[in-house]
Amino acid sequence: MIPALLHAFSKPTSENFHTLVRSEGVRVWDDKGNEYIDGLGGLWYCQIGHGRPELIDAITEQLQKMSSYHTFAPMGSDVSDAAAERIRSVSPFPDGRVFLCCSGSESIDTAIKLLRKIPILRKQSERQIILRRGRGYHGVNIGGTTMQGISANREGWGELFPNVIEIDPTNIESAASIFAEYGEQIAGVVTEPLQGAGGVFPPPSGYLEGLRRLCNDYGALLVFDEVITGFGRTGNWFASDTYGVKPDIITFAKGVTSGYQPLGGVLLSRTVCDVLESDPDFTFMHGYTYSGHPAASAAAIANINIIEDEGLVQRAEVIGDRLSGGLKALEKDGIFSEVRGVGAIWAAQVTDASTEQGLVIRDKMTEMGVICRAINGALAFCPPLVIEENDIDSIIDTAAKAVEEVTAK
Ligand SMILES: Cc1ncc(COP(=O)(O)O)c(C=O)c1O
Repeated sequence: MIPALLHAFSKPTSENFHTLVRSEGVRVWDDKGNEYIDGLGGLWYCQIGHGRPELIDAITEQLQKMSSYHTFAPMGSDVSDAAAERIRSVSPFPDGRVFLCCSGSESIDTAIKLLRKIPILRKQSERQIILRRGRGYHGVNIGGTTMQGISANREGWGELFPNVIEIDPTNIESAASIFAEYGEQIAGVVTEPLQGAGGVFPPPSGYLEGLRRLCNDYGALLVFDEVITGFGRTGNWFASDTYGVKPDIITFAKGVTSGYQPLGGVLLSRTVCDVLESDPDFTFMHGYTYSGHPAASAAAIANINIIEDEGLVQRAEVIGDRLSGGLKALEKDGIFSEVRGVGAIWAAQVTDASTEQGLVIRDKMTEMGVICRAINGALAFCPPLVIEENDIDSIIDTAAKAVEEVTAK
């Protein structure tokens, strides 16, 4: 009988999956006893490494004290309050606020609804257009699907939500001309500061600054989707700090709990809070049953404490230097045609490789004991921020061997 589980992003007829059963540090094991270095930190989320007792204890203690409670008015919990405070304390918005949900996709849908709500509250309801960026990945809810700049993820689901225009991912002039044409109707722009799932593309010089300037000039809001880049990945708590550009709204998930609990959220700058708080009769009619779930909140607090105590934000640079150094040496040898990234997130474009060949190289690497992600002929790496030098070197050596084996065939 076909297995019950329909895997994410899978062919429904496929039965070819690695069944993982255990994880510890930067390693995971499958049901056949094979060991793998987790070169992608799960799915771009695991900053502190797997199986950390401190984090598991924090979740367990919270569950023993209070196993669940929601945050729909008038209820709340001490731990969800504390999680929001802790997240705000490392964010670029020290006087902002935090909305909590359960995933990156929910965080994006929340941000999109805010892009619709803020103009209405400002009595500018003509502002209905949202700009998405080519090559962007923003999750799979209807909002995030609409915002996808990766057409394969966006197309084939029928009508999505209206009034979205795509800007070029590299040429800021494309955004400038859309602002020139639709300026007063634009509510905001949604972009990852570094584009992750689309292939790990840092922003071209001046691009994010250009978006900030256009939003300021035309009265629109800038949303950074930091679901991958948040919580230390780029060498700062947020990529907004790494690139020196402050958005109005930041979405986050993944690294906020290192994946130990499903948690996402939205950071609101003071500008946005002022609008939401301006009318005491206004009710924010949005929220999820599990917004601020106690176990996820406890996980976030313990995770942020570990990242801070162990200097993992700074460690991202050290990891990145070693990883990118090794990959760039292979670029000189002609194995890779481009190496791109920042902090501890990097991708290496395999010279002349097709998308299909990239997947074969990925499979070969898995067979050799290293997990990475293949995207359009590039190999992407986003290891836990506790990875040691010898494991980084193993990732690089394995990538080189796998490319050589596959492309020599
Ligand atoms: C930038 C970005 N936004 C949103 C999402 C969606 O997050 P989730 O899969 O938790 O819904 C992802 C997931 O990879 C992402 O990379």
